[in-house]
Amino acid sequence: MKGLILSGGRGTRLRPITFTSAKQLVPVANKPILFYGIEALQASGIREIGIVVGDTHQEIRDAVGDGKRFGVSVTYIQQDAPLGLAHAVLVSEHFLGSDPFCMYLGDNLIREKLAPLVTRFREEKPQSQILLARVPDPTQFGVAELKDGKVVRLTEKPKVPPSDLALVGVYMFTAGIHDASRAIKPSARGELEITDAIQWLIDKGHTVRPHVIDGWWKDTGKLEDMLEANRIILDTLVPRTDGTIERSDITGKVVIEAGARVVASSVRGPAIIGKGAQIENAYVGPFTSIGDGVIVRGSEVEHSIILEGASISDIGGRIESSLVGRNVSIYRSQHKPRSFNFMLGDRSEVGLI
Ligand code: DAU
Repeated sequence: MKGLILSGGRGTRLRPITFTSAKQLVPVANKPILFYGIEALQASGIREIGIVVGDTHQEIRDAVGDGKRFGVSVTYIQQDAPLGLAHAVLVSEHFLGSDPFCMYLGDNLIREKLAPLVTRFREEKPQSQILLARVPDPTQFGVAELKDGKVVRLTEKPKVPPSDLALVGVYMFTAGIHDASRAIKPSARGELEITDAIQWLIDKGHTVRPHVIDGWWKDTGKLEDMLEANRIILDTLVPRTDGTIERSDITGKVVIEAGARVVASSVRGPAIIGKGAQIENAYVGPFTSIGDGVIVRGSEVEHSIILEGASISDIGGRIESSLVGRNVSIYRSQHKPRSFNFMLGDRSEVGLI
């Protein structure tokens, strides 16, 4: 069985971060989301993984490499435009051949272990196995209707959802999905939808087995979801200190990586302080990921993700529920007249109090 991770697309809902970075590489608890997917496939026994990439292919290649460090071999598959999840399957046909495969959306995170599901799929050999989760607002997802435990209909982002069962971004297929993906037409949003391809299988009388997951699942396409995923993963941290702590108060699950310095500060876990970060006269509150080389000085940060190389100095207030990009600098200016000075990228968001 092979793995196929979809890491193309545009990530429009996470702009401006995704103007300069692939959304699948935004870190959750200081590890790119994409790595969780690779590790999940590896842990389920899969060793050959194809990664579908688009415009951000170089960055993804640089981050993942040949897959050896994850114990897998990675083949990159170029998709010229994000024309849909079924289109991504079609461009991967040369890699997949006639093998069954597990398709994993590169911006999804799920807790459930895949190994038992992969085993069941191999043993029972349905045409497809889909994962479903009960969600409060199904309108943003593919939605399934079940009857007597069988999938009867799938609808992509319905305005009036027929159930609360959303399609999770992990699917298992046999080679029949190639014919299905060729047979369907683009949807109203101009994409070849995997939801329609699976519906095609159902209409042809093939077995599509549903599995409703118990644990959490996150599609990290939006800021709130990203922060929520960060919160969930940080909560699983095993505390560790490889950096140095001086005159500081550290409570709860906190990881302090090598070369990081926490001085005259208070850190309340769950939180992670990345390699070489400097925390001085500061407060780092629960559910915060501080990236490598970040500086937090004379400031407070809580429930946030601060990416590599950013610096937050003497802001005299608390940053909360925020995603701060790489090498961003936020500081209090001594210049007169006292005014806000911004240099913000397109589509940045700043909330002032
Ligand atoms: O997250 C689960 C949802 O994922 C499902 O409930 C939906 O049925 C499914 O269509 C999908 O919806 P999204 O609109 O959230 O998909 P998105 O465009 O965010 O793409 C998911 C991943 O696949 C993301 O990592 C980008 C990548 N991708 C996407 C497209 C459209 C590609 O690699 N190529 C593509 O052409």
